[in-house]
Amino acid sequence: MTRITGKDASVKNRELAALAPIIPVLVVNDVAHARPLAEALVAGGLPALEVTLRTPAALDAIRAMAEVPGGVVGAGTLVTPQDVADAVAAGAKFGVSPGATASLIAACEEHGLPLLAGASTATEAMAMLERGYDMLKFFPAETSGGAPALKAIGAPLPQIGFCPTGGVSPKNANDYLSLPNVLCAGGSWVAPADKVESGDWTGIESLAREAAKLER
Ligand code: 3PG
Repeated sequence: MTRITGKDASVKNRELAALAPIIPVLVVNDVAHARPLAEALVAGGLPALEVTLRTPAALDAIRAMAEVPGGVVGAGTLVTPQDVADAVAAGAKFGVSPGATASLIAACEEHGLPLLAGASTATEAMAMLERGYDMLKFFPAETSGGAPALKAIGAPLPQIGFCPTGGVSPKNANDYLSLPNVLCAGGSWVAPADKVESGDWTGIESLAREAAKLER
């Protein structure tokens, strides 16, 4: 395991954001869905995939998705250092968290896992910036003031890039993606539970294709 710094993580996060305008936020209940789900999203033009650690199947889903050519699979909902160790062992290439604590940041740096950490205020963003992190997740985006709030944060802190997540949808994605400090956005709408459960991979691929066309 190779240690990374906040600056290294930010470079990686910016590379990740450059892959596509939307990072799908995935809740996988059945590991059998993992591979076809990842294949559909990658085929639709969304290669960066966040698998949330919210289900018992999540770590096995990361293992299965990591095999899909063209995909870059990360673990979301990282809360504890153990989550980080588990995610890395499963093959996660990046980590996403709703917020940030000193122990979570340290665990990611020790494991060499680039962390896309959640922040929703100027103070939280500045605390991360002090540690070298200049690419953050804006979470929970809509209930934290949405695109106008992120625009306001960007005025004094233009050096911080964001991936807004939480309530982002096809209706408001453009409001975020048109801001200069928004590098990509995260959302679950490209993999709705009903389509995943019914195995509608064609439907998911076409949702991904639409999302991949969003302009930034
Ligand atoms: C989450 O934590 O579930 C993500 O922020 C996704 O939010 P969404 O379901 O509103 O896209």
